[in-house]
Amino acid sequence: MPRSAPKYDLISIFPEYFSALDLSLIGKARAAGIIEIGIHDLREYAQGLHKSVDDTPYGGGAGMVMSPEPWGKAIDGVSQEAGPHDLVVLTPAGKKFDQALAESFAARDHIIFACGRYEGIDQRVTDFYAAAPQFRVHEVSIGDYVLNGGEVATLVMLEAIIRLIPGVIGNPDSLTEESHTLTADGAEIVEYPSYTKPAQWRGFSVPEILLSGNHAAIKAFRTQEAVKRTKNRE
Ligand code: 6GU
Repeated sequence: MPRSAPKYDLISIFPEYFSALDLSLIGKARAAGIIEIGIHDLREYAQGLHKSVDDTPYGGGAGMVMSPEPWGKAIDGVSQEAGPHDLVVLTPAGKKFDQALAESFAARDHIIFACGRYEGIDQRVTDFYAAAPQFRVHEVSIGDYVLNGGEVATLVMLEAIIRLIPGVIGNPDSLTEESHTLTADGAEIVEYPSYTKPAQWRGFSVPEILLSGNHAAIKAFRTQEAVKRTKNRE
């Protein structure tokens, strides 16, 4: 039996960030029912006249911390169906997102993305769900720099994850012949450089070998160029 459409629930105080998910391949995959995306405004789970979602940090310090109560209500609200649920808490202190993590998330049926702002979400939210048997919790960062919130990081992760879902990309060959492919021995190699017409452009030529029709030589050339690029990145 084929797997049912994976579902991604995104929780944020700025749900408008996620309007980009109507575009391009992800928008098409949503429209085709290959994936489901739920977008949730954290503020709707907040109480009181001001629907406050943050407060000052215990122990002092700069900035504000997101309160546990609205987060608990929101996460409970989007995880009503029987589990398992993967909860991704976006934080610059998390594990670094990479292609291997994208592949493992692409195999999950329900992922909740908790997009904090300010100085982050009260740590007890992460700890509570990490102790809950139906949840697998992942604190994830997309790189060594600081963003104002988890929304853009979620967009980055979703784009990397969703393109790996079967049926999202028309030609699955483009998944195996691309950047950040893991070779059989687990080594990572980046993509070889690509060229298209015209063969001459502003005095720069396409490498002669690519016009030769010699497939073995082309393959060897591309591997050599990919290895060069991989080394230059280190
Ligand atoms: Cl996931 N969140 C924030 N606020 N900053 C980041 C990040 C996440 N990943 C890298 N920087």
